[in-house]
Amino acid sequence: MLHVLAIVGSPRKGKNNDALVTSMLEGIENHGNSSVSIEKLYADKLAIQSCKACDGCTRKRGCVLKDGMNDIYEKFDKADIIIVSSPLYFNSISGQLKSIIDRNQAIWSSKYILNNSLIDKSKLRLGYFICTAGMPEEPNLFHATFPIMELFFKSVNTNWEGSLLISNVDKHPIVHDNATLQNSYNIGKKLIEKLEK
Ligand SMILES: Cc1cc2nc3c(=O)[nH]c(=O)nc-3n(C[C@H](O)[C@H](O)[C@H](O)COP(=O)(O)O)c2cc1C
Repeated sequence: MLHVLAIVGSPRKGKNNDALVTSMLEGIENHGNSSVSIEKLYADKLAIQSCKACDGCTRKRGCVLKDGMNDIYEKFDKADIIIVSSPLYFNSISGQLKSIIDRNQAIWSSKYILNNSLIDKSKLRLGYFICTAGMPEEPNLFHATFPIMELFFKSVNTNWEGSLLISNVDKHPIVHDNATLQNSYNIGKKLIEKLEK
């Protein structure tokens, strides 16, 4: 059984990010030979608190905050494919998604201080990043998100396979853009096929 975890970083259910994630998950679900369990989470609904920098995770494995983030570490660990999406907010990722990523500090501590990683290092995990921007395309529009996602995927021991970056969505919503949705679907298909190779 392969496990796919997707986190939608937009608070807007049914809009651009949600539609792209749904298509990518359909591409995964409809291809490959393995049985697949798929979980799609909405960062806004998870209501993950921001990291308090209490250093608790340097003394005891995991996070002391009781808001479900410890379940998310387990889901990251179990996942074979991790899809993360975000709208571009002030040239960066959404606050909801950033709160989750900052809480991966507990993963960092588990690896580099406690020497007892929350995330299994031995298995292959594939990751994909989806980001949408309201503004029309311009050079480096998504630039600021890349180093954040690089560290995120590193934290969860996941090979960052690529990014689907779509601009101008405020003028041209993705729900009406079948070619872009098909592209997302095809990426999902390729991810599962690569994992099964
Ligand atoms: C708080 C906020 C900040 C935003 N900042 C940017 C920005 O810096 N650049 C940009 O192109 N679009 C910006 N937008 C537009 C969103 O990126 C766009 O509406 C979003 O990609 C739509 O995704 P969704 O439909 O999945 O929510 C911003 C929107 C909000 C609400």
